[in-house]
Amino acid sequence: MAEFIDERTLIVDGVAFACEFPVRDAGGHLAVMKDRAMVERTMALVERLSPRRILEVGIWRGGSTALLASLARPEQMVAIDLLADRVAALDEHLERIGLADAVQARYGIDQADGPAVRAILDEVFGDAPLDLVIDDGSHIYGPTLATFDVAFPRLRPGGIYVIEDWNGDHLLGDLLEARLDADGQRRPEDAEIWNAIEAGASDPRRGDPPTRLALELVLARASEGDAIRSVSFEANWIVIERGEDAVDGDLGLVGRVRDHHGLLALAPGTARPRPAAAG
Ligand SMILES: C[S@@+](CC[C@H](N)C(=O)[O-])C[C@H]1O[C@@H](n2cnc3c(N)ncnc32)[C@H](O)[C@@H]1O
Repeated sequence: MAEFIDERTLIVDGVAFACEFPVRDAGGHLAVMKDRAMVERTMALVERLSPRRILEVGIWRGGSTALLASLARPEQMVAIDLLADRVAALDEHLERIGLADAVQARYGIDQADGPAVRAILDEVFGDAPLDLVIDDGSHIYGPTLATFDVAFPRLRPGGIYVIEDWNGDHLLGDLLEARLDADGQRRPEDAEIWNAIEAGASDPRRGDPPTRLALELVLARASEGDAIRSVSFEANWIVIERGEDAVDGDLGLVGRVRDHHGLLALAPGTARPRPAAAG
């Protein structure tokens, strides 16, 4: 039994989850970094799919992993995160709901490390296909693609791959554009924001936004028959359904894309220049 008792508090089998984005104070509850609408979509997906085998990327404080485990009660689930420290609240929750063996959390795992992710999937699931993957990890193109290339081919036909927060960079871009002055110049009072953004953008670890992956999924869907059955783009998540056709996992998504019309001709990492500072 899962029910929101207010805009951010979800009760599942007597356990409270604080669901909000951005997170303020979780008040001692398990914190989920998603707002109510996002959580309700996840609940509907779990209800429709009844996933038995799940991969989640992005544990953070353990709330989303605990919630997925409580909602789906999977046979096997693994969640990974780059963070090295175990999350005690998650361990306690899994123990309490009797899923400590079925649900594993693996820390210090970079989703960009395809061989490491593959080794975990081999170990936990063997040859059994996945029903659901939820990637709420880096939200950067390269690492997101690396996990997609390893995990998507392992979904069963009809299985679902979710990429969350794929358009965050665009929402930020829209926000910044709206703050330009009438001549399209940056306002001096925004200098600090722009400096922070430019420092982030020039961080070599950042790379392309995941929108690039979204465009590649469109092209793959255009050419690949039923390997990718459908791709839907919604506020804050992409839902990709696996079809019946075989996926050549060795090629990876980029190797399978046919860009007949040069729509992705912009080289990776090439960004449109940003407007200059005023004055
Ligand atoms: C948005 S938070 C996850 C929130 C969580 N799923 C929830 O809803 O409460 C993103 C998480 O992804 C992790 N992360 C970032 N980059 C990663 C990477 N390259 N590999 C694995 N995890 C990563 C971060 O450490 C962080 O815990």
